[in-house]
Amino acid sequence: MSNIIPHNFQVTKKERNLQKKHNSLLIWFTGLSGSGKSTVANALEKALLEKGLHTYILDGDNVRNGLNNNLTFSPQDRTENIRRIAEVAQLMVDAGLVVLSAFVSPYQKDRENVKSIVGKENFVEIFVNTPIEECEKRDVKGLYAKARAGEIKDFTGVNAPYETPQNPDVEIDTSTVSVEDSVAIIFKAIANKLHLK
Ligand code: PPS
Repeated sequence: MSNIIPHNFQVTKKERNLQKKHNSLLIWFTGLSGSGKSTVANALEKALLEKGLHTYILDGDNVRNGLNNNLTFSPQDRTENIRRIAEVAQLMVDAGLVVLSAFVSPYQKDRENVKSIVGKENFVEIFVNTPIEECEKRDVKGLYAKARAGEIKDFTGVNAPYETPQNPDVEIDTSTVSVEDSVAIIFKAIANKLHLK
């Protein structure tokens, strides 16, 4: 952007992280509505907090109701939704937090963009690959029924696409793996990136 010249601050992310027991990280959950993203992210945050890590969750409640309350579910708005979330997560990672995010994020190019915004060394992708039949059976919010009835025109998995992650760090199916086991699997996979001291 022209005439915007970033300031070089003296305290860096590296120095902030030296003050803590762990590195900062973005743990990015992606999957269909009702797949269990928020449930697992929530349980993982609790487990990380109990280990003394400094965490924060970004999900629909604190993002689509606030920062992104002007965005719809059109492809363009979903891309903008994910881009803004990535920029916020990047600031939080820079501040030294372990950020957990739970968004459908159905497009591969948007998830790639998140990774490039926060940096691949600060990013792990968790694909919550619960079959749509199970998500639809759960239908916690009644949205699948509405989408099938034609009341929602671009609902992911019904009449809008979900592009399957090609190379996620972790893949879990919450119809066959418990929340507790999911947390253990993810923790094992991310432990080396957290640099626990
Ligand atoms: S996206 O695609 O990443 O921008 O979506 P996200 O911000 O994660 O919002 C998804 C939640 O909003 C509810 N919802 C919809 N999801 C998908 N498609 C459509 N059209 C839609 N309309 C509303 C849905 O309940 C998602 O919540 P979760 O927690 O994922 O079930």
